[in-house]
Amino acid sequence: MPEEKRPILELRGITKRFPGVVANDSVDLTLYPGEVLALLGENGAGKSTLMNVLIGLYRQDEGEVYLRGKPVEIHSPRDSDALGIGMVHQNFMLVSTMTVAENIILGLQDLPFVPQMDKVVARIEEISERYNLQVDPHASIWQLSVGEQQRVEILKLIYRGAEILILDKPTAVLTPQEAEELAHVLQVMTAEGKSAIFITHKMDEVLSFSDWVQVLQHGKSIAVKRTAETNAQELARLMVGREVLFRLDKEPSTPGDVLLEVRDVHALDDKGLPALRGISLQIRGGEILGIAGVAGNGQRQLSEIVTGLRTVAQGEVLISGKLMTNCSPLEVIQAGVSHIPADRVGMGIVGGMAVSDNLAMKGYRNAPMSRRGILYPQRILEFAKKMITSFQIATPTPMTYIKFLSGGNIQKAILAREIDACAGALVAVYPSRGLDVGATEAVRKRLLKQRAQGSAVLLISEDLEELLTISDKVAVLFDGEVMGVLPSEEAEIETLGLMMSGSRLS
Ligand SMILES: Nc1ncnc2c1ncn2[C@@H]1O[C@H](COP(=O)(O)OP(=O)(O)OP(=O)(O)O)[C@@H](O)[C@H]1O
Ligand SMILES: [Mg+2]
Repeated sequence: MPEEKRPILELRGITKRFPGVVANDSVDLTLYPGEVLALLGENGAGKSTLMNVLIGLYRQDEGEVYLRGKPVEIHSPRDSDALGIGMVHQNFMLVSTMTVAENIILGLQDLPFVPQMDKVVARIEEISERYNLQVDPHASIWQLSVGEQQRVEILKLIYRGAEILILDKPTAVLTPQEAEELAHVLQVMTAEGKSAIFITHKMDEVLSFSDWVQVLQHGKSIAVKRTAETNAQELARLMVGREVLFRLDKEPSTPGDVLLEVRDVHALDDKGLPALRGISLQIRGGEILGIAGVAGNGQRQLSEIVTGLRTVAQGEVLISGKLMTNCSPLEVIQAGVSHIPADRVGMGIVGGMAVSDNLAMKGYRNAPMSRRGILYPQRILEFAKKMITSFQIATPTPMTYIKFLSGGNIQKAILAREIDACAGALVAVYPSRGLDVGATEAVRKRLLKQRAQGSAVLLISEDLEELLTISDKVAVLFDGEVMGVLPSEEAEIETLGLMMSGSRLS
């Protein structure tokens, strides 16, 4: 009887309320051994909350968790750890000053007083071999790229013997190659009888990685399907509750003066290695320049030298024709440049401050929110309310701490602030990463609106379709150099792919 698989995990009637919202409303979920369940839903639908209940970060108000048919009480991540349930969070939780190996054993209880690091390292190396997850156990976390940090998180869970792996939007930050590595890890794991719950907004991943799909909407589970028996259209409709059309009206561009320019720029990365090696680019007002490339080829550093966050070792940065090489971030902001950073939680927000204050963070130095150094709280609130409505940020109130919003809604808040403050140039790094289909559509429309208003937009994205549909030109970065710049209409995916792997445009 092949179909008589017993579930490894069952959630029954899980309800979790927060002040002003029911994040999970009597949700059931079933996971079978050796299978992957994809959890889908709009930003704020309750996906992360449900998983946080499962690993004991939150306590459900109602409902039970069953493991291999038996009820279990999970009061803390320590309990879930002991039960073999592990989670890779939407925002990583590694200690950046410690090494990979130290992070992996951090908090383990059955350690001898002085852990034998050579044994730990040997185990890490054995797991990395088996799952093909390459990391240097001796590297410090801060030196690693986001993709490498994620590998560490996964290694850590396998090291600790997780049988159920929860991945919260793991590929939102990965290069296509890293996403494939992850697919491989999932294959090896499921072949060993382990299971996974995979949260994502990307339909192609749902369809290729999962055995089952479950859709949440406003905290309720509204559909459970076998992946083989559904398709992308149906899932998009279930998530958003309407047909999603990826059609954008892009008016012909009327480029103005060059507002953003880098000339022969060189810069180092955090490890002190060359990250940008002689980059020259120009963006005119009313123009979107897309930067394509596998993440880790200098994109982040490019956005940082333009916004004053990284030192230019050689070369020049010009904003509105003015030489601004190595100016401070504040000077760059005052020159009219806005920045949607890749690391939104680290750089984009102050978690313990209200949504409204986070929204006002850019405008508060100026009228009408302040005058001669005096702040006007009422005006900040009004401004925030306007932003919340126009960007559809789901928050119980403007005064809620921003860290309590869902990942996608935090993202929308940063977008709202930066796009609103944009007065000339906008540097957007992976702006639609982590957003659901509806919000992605809205962000792309905003970027086009900014272009229509005469801003110069530098758009860094790993989504080629996004780059081609909204950019006027696409530049490809490889190993810190520009492989070529093409008008979007003439850019063929194949050509771009070749350039992304190091062929120069002839
Ligand atoms: N600690 C908290 N305090 C108050 N409200 C919270 C808290 N955590 C989550 N919420 C609220 O619960 C709801 C569900 O959020 P959750 O983070 O689970 O959404 P999500 O489906 O993971 O969305 P996303 O795709 O944007 O990550 C949201 O309205 C959010 O604001
Ligand atoms: Mg989430």
